Amino acid sequence: MMTPDLPLERFEHIVFFTGAGLSSECGLPTYRGEGGIWGSYDYQDYACQRAFDRDPDRVWDFHDERRRVMGAAAPGLAHSVMAKIQQERTTTVIVTQNIDGLHQRAGAVDVVELHGSVWRVRCSCPGAPFENKDLPIERRCVACGAWRRPDIVWFEDPMQQAPLERAAEVLMASDLLVSIGTSGVVYPAAQLPRMAKAAGAMCVEINPQETPVSGLYDIHMRTGAAEALRTLWPAVAERCG
Ligand code: APR
Repeated sequence: MMTPDLPLERFEHIVFFTGAGLSSECGLPTYRGEGGIWGSYDYQDYACQRAFDRDPDRVWDFHDERRRVMGAAAPGLAHSVMAKIQQERTTTVIVTQNIDGLHQRAGAVDVVELHGSVWRVRCSCPGAPFENKDLPIERRCVACGAWRRPDIVWFEDPMQQAPLERAAEVLMASDLLVSIGTSGVVYPAAQLPRMAKAAGAMCVEINPQETPVSGLYDIHMRTGAAEALRTLWPAVAERCG
């Protein structure tokens, strides 16, 4: 594979757009493909408001286990390279579909979480959603007694407007988009990279597999996240230890 020549200094506004494939290098399952979560669990029983209304304990059992597994995982080299680039170039933004918080644990400071976070909970109390990393979590609010709900955008949920608007804003201003580890099949997230393309950005897809949106990208790196970022920016990877 020819190494694309993408010196960071050539770009003003870099956006990393990430999915579950990035965190698969940290031992976390993807959603689709071999070993994918939705191959073992039907989201209609574990990850939608209807399931929660029907059996909140069953939904919390599933999400407590995901919190346990995600809490035990550590950010990978690819997370660290993106965080380092963001620290050194403050105009870099990470837009993620992931809910695991690994970007933040790698030191990233500007992360747009399109699908929420497994580490936040919603409640009817004022000020919610709150961050809560208890394992297991107290499933009812101690203040108001209501069921807490993971602050995750589940299937059939409306998207949260603020992250969607921020993602659109930074993608429309981008001159380099690097998509890492997403199958590009879940909307509206999957359409966001088109905004970078429309803005004239150089668009890079890092994914061992072709995806339904591969045609959008100018460069395809058919390899894993860490390998690709190490190839693109070896000096940064070196500084990540
Ligand atoms: N490096 C990069 N990409 C990888 C790697 C790797 N090491 N390993 C696998 N991949 C790719 C797979 O080829 C696949 O295209 O990661 C992608 C993972 O796809 P999904 O499991 O569908 O994950 P994602 O695209 O993030 O899902 C989007 O779907 O279920 C919802 O809300 C959930 O945010 C999630 C959304």
